[in-house]
Amino acid sequence: MAVTPSANRNILVTSALPYANGNIHLGHLVEYIQTDIWVRFQRMRGHRCYYMCADDTHGTPIMISANKQGIRPEELITHMHAQHLRDFTAFRISFDDYYSTNSEENRELAEFIYLQAKEKDAIYEKEIQQYFCEKDNLFLPDRMIKGKCPSCHATEQYGDSCEACSAIYEPTRLGEPYCAICGTKPKLRSSVHHYFKLSAFTEELKKWTSAGHIRPEVQNKLQEWFTQGIKDWDISRDAPYFGFRIPGTKDKYFYVWLDAPIGYIATTKHWCRTHGHDFDQIWHGNTFEIHHFIGKDILYFHTLFWPAMLLVSGFSTPTRVNVHGFLTINGEKMSKSRGTFINASDYLAHLDPEFLRYYYAAKLGPGLDDLDLNLDDFTVRINSDVLGKVINIGSRLGKIVNEKLSHELSQPDAAGSLMIEEIRSALPVIAEYYETLEYNKAMREIMLLADKVNKYINDAAPWERVLTDTARATAVCTAGLQGLVILAGMLKPVLPRIVEGVENFLEIPPLTWENLAQETPLKHIKPYEHLASRIPPGKAHQLIAGTSV
Ligand code: MSP
Ligand code: ZN
Repeated sequence: MAVTPSANRNILVTSALPYANGNIHLGHLVEYIQTDIWVRFQRMRGHRCYYMCADDTHGTPIMISANKQGIRPEELITHMHAQHLRDFTAFRISFDDYYSTNSEENRELAEFIYLQAKEKDAIYEKEIQQYFCEKDNLFLPDRMIKGKCPSCHATEQYGDSCEACSAIYEPTRLGEPYCAICGTKPKLRSSVHHYFKLSAFTEELKKWTSAGHIRPEVQNKLQEWFTQGIKDWDISRDAPYFGFRIPGTKDKYFYVWLDAPIGYIATTKHWCRTHGHDFDQIWHGNTFEIHHFIGKDILYFHTLFWPAMLLVSGFSTPTRVNVHGFLTINGEKMSKSRGTFINASDYLAHLDPEFLRYYYAAKLGPGLDDLDLNLDDFTVRINSDVLGKVINIGSRLGKIVNEKLSHELSQPDAAGSLMIEEIRSALPVIAEYYETLEYNKAMREIMLLADKVNKYINDAAPWERVLTDTARATAVCTAGLQGLVILAGMLKPVLPRIVEGVENFLEIPPLTWENLAQETPLKHIKPYEHLASRIPPGKAHQLIAGTSV
């Protein structure tokens, strides 16, 4: 089940491609932060790890959104790309490439995969009835038709699934359908659609899904779908549609979910081209592990459609599909009316991005559970853990060394050496937690270790010793700061900026997992520079107030 760690791994990592018609919000960031921590950890281990992502640019909603703004979809996606990238950069999401699905690479690959499927008899055409809004002059996508759920009769449900009872259905089964854009009643029209024969892949997919690429709870979910029977997949949409035209047709386009995951490959191709790397080595053969990170809402696409598309066209299938749950804020779903639909840029106007990274890490496990951002708990945790337990070591000891001991360090005393060894011996456990996405356990363990460093410092009271025995005080400060080095190294995937500040202050080379295993000699330190500030009471609540005005 677990990927065997070998000395040198080649790893390709992706996060789901955010839609180009909305801003990045705190819900999205659960995923990008979870992925980025894993990527940074792998790089710190010395593995070759490339992180690819892109904007998901096609589909009816983006076309409609551009229409409303009176611009072309191309303009909309260019503008949003810049905004997304700005937000991701501020949160230090370390993509190797952040591209777009509206690219030539993606068009070529989508056509290639489609033609491969066609050649292997996995595509057929079928005439279907679909709702058309005469007012908007548009075939309505499932999510743009609303009505009564055929199963539980809840009103205002989308055309594909019911939020009240989770039933999945065809839009034609909705009761009293209406167009979600203009509210009028749509008419049924017939049109020829292209289908991907997903059902023919049932056995191969069963095999793939039980081969250790997904967690057992995800596998159980898939089992339900297998029991219901795998249905073929409608991969075409009629004009007008913003996307790639299907080769050999006049007015049929690939459904956005066909070319979206292909964006993972296209981005890799773009990066390889611009960085002189061999593309085939990554997506063919078995030299690269491929790890996808996604939210639980897009499981079907990534564990059924996507492996089937890869299998039919001869690309490598994913090594792992990691699935996370959804973010709630103060115990409730994010909501615009409650002001809890918090955009990344709103957060950045008030708080340090590293704090959110830490908070998510402290709450994230490997499973599908939702996670809650409770603003009071957030404040307490950041102040007590990041500031009180970690940064405080640097500021307290830095002050003594710089003000009373003329910047010089020496060797730890005996008790200090024991403490350092104890902290260091936890490195393999912490590494295993990162590897298996148990960041919550990693953070808890690191904070227990920080308590030990603090206890050592408090017991040895260097601020008292400095008055009588400067050599001993120096030894104690050296030991405490050695402890900080290891804690900082352990936290580096989560707190890249703060840890860079620690490296700089202690005048040490960038911390890697390898150099943490040995003692990093500390000789001299720079004046302590402020690394982060405590969150004042009530401050985090400004996030909510801030978005509602
Ligand atoms: N464009 C598709 C993905 C295509 S991947 C080939 C999409 N985009 S999205 O913008 O809606 O979501 C991007 C990712 O963010 C998804 O994995 C989704 O699960 C995740 N999240 C979006 N809102 C979220 C929360 N509120 N909480 C946690 N993750 C959430 O889906
Ligand atoms: Zn309409």
